[in-house]
Amino acid sequence: MKLVSGYKMAKYVIACVFLAVALFGLIQASDLILGNVNAGDRILNSQVVFAPGIPGGLVSRAVNYTGIYNITAIRAYDRTFNRTGQAHITGGGLYQRYVNLALQTRFIGSPLDYLVEIYGR
Ligand SMILES: *[C@@H]1O[C@H](CO)[C@@H](O)[C@H](O)[C@H]1NC(C)=O
Ligand SMILES: *[C@@H]1O[C@H](CO)[C@@H](O)[C@H](O)[C@H]1NC(C)=O
Ligand SMILES: *[C@@H]1O[C@H](CO)[C@@H](O)[C@H](O)[C@H]1NC(C)=O
Repeated sequence: MKLVSGYKMAKYVIACVFLAVALFGLIQASDLILGNVNAGDRILNSQVVFAPGIPGGLVSRAVNYTGIYNITAIRAYDRTFNRTGQAHITGGGLYQRYVNLALQTRFIGSPLDYLVEIYGR
């Protein structure tokens, strides 16, 4: 009895770990989370970037921000229901005064919908 339930428990735990890793991978692929938002940091830029899906094509948008403050955190949250976007830095970034982001869809026909937030001090 003990052995069986222990085995079942182990299978359950392994399944949970797999699921967590898979979910984490999905979330990672869609959202871009860099740096920490600390007390005293101000929000330098906040914008929603939306583009409708186009049949047979992938959509992409660039967000290029330049300011006078030291960037301490960058957030790009994929707001699409199926989390079909990807976001990465193409220039600048943390501890610089500018950042260029590329936002793209990973699946043909999907819309692009991101909330981008840039913090600095
Ligand atoms: C999400 O994916 C499901 C299954 O592939 C699809 O039926 C649905 O239309 C998608 N929703 C959006 C908003 O793209
Ligand atoms: C934004 O920056 C990228 C390089 O990272 C550049 O290719 C693109 O032309 C820039 N777009 C605008 C509107 O400045
Ligand atoms: C930007 O902030 C980081 C972290 O606080 C600091 O190490 C760095 O020196 C700062 N850079 C500038 C140009 O102020």
